[in-house]
Amino acid sequence: MPWIEVSEYQSPGRWTDPKAADAQAKEYCQRLEAGGILYFRQPPFEFSESDRQFLLGQRQSGFKGHKNISYRPKTDELRGAVAESDEDVSRFRQIMRDYSKNATAFVDTFLSPYAGKRLLDFASFRPIEEQNRDLPLTRRNDLCHVDAFPTRPTNGGRILRVFTNINPAENRVWQTTDPFDVIAPKYAQDASLDEITKPTSLRRAAAGIAPLLRIVGVKGANRSPYDRFMLHFHDYLKMNNDYQQNYPKHRIEFPPNSFWLVYTDTVPHAVLSGKFAIEQTFIIPSQAMVAPATSPIRVLESLCGRTLSN
Ligand code: SIN
Ligand code: FE
Repeated sequence: MPWIEVSEYQSPGRWTDPKAADAQAKEYCQRLEAGGILYFRQPPFEFSESDRQFLLGQRQSGFKGHKNISYRPKTDELRGAVAESDEDVSRFRQIMRDYSKNATAFVDTFLSPYAGKRLLDFASFRPIEEQNRDLPLTRRNDLCHVDAFPTRPTNGGRILRVFTNINPAENRVWQTTDPFDVIAPKYAQDASLDEITKPTSLRRAAAGIAPLLRIVGVKGANRSPYDRFMLHFHDYLKMNNDYQQNYPKHRIEFPPNSFWLVYTDTVPHAVLSGKFAIEQTFIIPSQAMVAPATSPIRVLESLCGRTLSN
């Protein structure tokens, strides 16, 4: 089953037996790591109607560099928004900051085995209708893919995303396929796993001067073999007609106000339609995972027989 409804969630503080709370949190982590989508009918934290109304009125910059409006929690920066006034910019930033904080506090309790180890990445607001969106092929969201970030290599860490569909009337419609540990054995070699991850003298030399390259602003200088492959695999899947057209797909409709958590590097996904979603991303390092064997890095390492982290 690709998604699992969490209908009776109780926060750890409400358990009388702390061991039972820990076991429950571990099971949620396990389900996510195995490629499940954990779905709630409504966000498990406050999201006010006035904040939702404000977001529904916001626009995104038409500049193609911005696929979404992004918020960077560490620097409190909002990018890609077109706001009418300074007050609107501050309010927008405040709403993103609140979502980011609430999602983080929730993840730290709901997925308590990750607390203290998870890394906070960006949040985003997605106000554009996804159906028939005009984007270059490898940037399209309506083709099934696994996520990988060109500017933020994870070195084997996993990409956990926490979404809310804030659209008051329309579902956000996804398509998924079997998870990474099922599709990688079928496609990774064809996607040049060996060539991309093989150590060459040029790659060794580049790794040696990576700290220097980073200082002078060369992006991706610290990309591990894992990150190189995942970036390529993201594009490979979008360009693979057989996978796009013939591989069995599951359709998932996320109703207005629903909330879901998913490892988007593990669960191949496409968004077919919907607008107005808000999302926070976390990177979960290998050491934090409860079942690292199904993580993409371990799956790929066993397929190619070499270590893929830096
Ligand atoms: C994606 O990560 O491909 C898009 C998911 C979404 O915006 O619903
Ligand atoms: Fe994606």
